[in-house]
Amino acid sequence: MSVESLFGKARTMLAPMAGYTDFAFRSICRNYGVGLTVTEMISAKALVMGNELSRRMLFRDKADSPCFCQIFGHEPQVMADSVRLPEVQAYEGVDINMGCPVRKIVSNGDGSALLEDPRLAGQCIRAVKDAIGNKPLSVKFRLGVSDSSGAVDFAKMCRDSGADMITVHFRTRRQMYSGTADFRLLEQIAHMGLPIFANGDVVSRQQYLQLTERGAYGVAVGRGALGRPYVFSEIAGTSYCTDIFETIQTHAHMLLQVYGDRVVANEMKKHVSAYLKGMRGAKQCVVAVNGAHSTEQILQLCARYFDEYPQLRRVEG
Ligand SMILES: Cc1cc2nc3c(=O)[nH]c(=O)nc-3n(C[C@H](O)[C@H](O)[C@H](O)COP(=O)(O)O)c2cc1C
Repeated sequence: MSVESLFGKARTMLAPMAGYTDFAFRSICRNYGVGLTVTEMISAKALVMGNELSRRMLFRDKADSPCFCQIFGHEPQVMADSVRLPEVQAYEGVDINMGCPVRKIVSNGDGSALLEDPRLAGQCIRAVKDAIGNKPLSVKFRLGVSDSSGAVDFAKMCRDSGADMITVHFRTRRQMYSGTADFRLLEQIAHMGLPIFANGDVVSRQQYLQLTERGAYGVAVGRGALGRPYVFSEIAGTSYCTDIFETIQTHAHMLLQVYGDRVVANEMKKHVSAYLKGMRGAKQCVVAVNGAHSTEQILQLCARYFDEYPQLRRVEG
């Protein structure tokens, strides 16, 4: 299956975000026309070893399609075995994480540690590609460890090892999430011939148009989508009308179908502070939500907030 056949008009991707891009949030973004979603990063090794928590992260809503499963690891055989699991095969494609800068991940040789070992990175890509057959494989990486001098070669290595597309976060590992994304190498990386999703600080249609004009196939949006799933409609240039309180309720109720109340309450605390970010008078509500003990309590606090500010429930564009 070609990458092109996955996308209609919307060449947008919800960038994978651990702790945020759960199946429910992905489905919500779907309502606003996102082109492709990606799971949170999941350890290939944990999947192969049958870890229950990791397996649970594979749960998906069928309507959320196309969706790629993102794995991380550094052992080609283990990574190949993980994508042969039927629950992973059920996804429309696989994405390999080669960008995560978190110390615990890097010190294990995973995530952006692979930027320092392109040979091993290539072996991982090849092994996963051989295991998934004609399903698309993407690789997500950063510009480099402390500078971007190896970025173009890394993209070439991805292509030569069998990747079908790449998502590049235009920051280095050292930058973590600070500063701004630097897209200067976009044209050169795009020139390697793989469809490239440009990632880093994208929040508007104007940025989407500029980046695609410069050779990006599409854009991946991370933090800009948190609490603002309608950003995908904005980027696509389509109108939308959303009720934030209903969205919060839907999000929580979907999660409750799969997870216990305590887990859902903890997840929803993060999401609610994103949904209410920047809203008038929301600070007090967010503080109360963070101290809540159940999902029901969180929803009641949100209901109270929107009773006080009914005009803030609706967001249109
Ligand atoms: C809370 C959080 C969790 C993230 N988790 C992942 C992850 O699991 N896998 C991954 O490849 N990138 C992850 N990222 C990086 C994002 O996918 C994205 O590359 C980065 O946030 C830059 O894009 P943005 O400026 O649009 O947010 C994460 C970022 C954030 C903020």
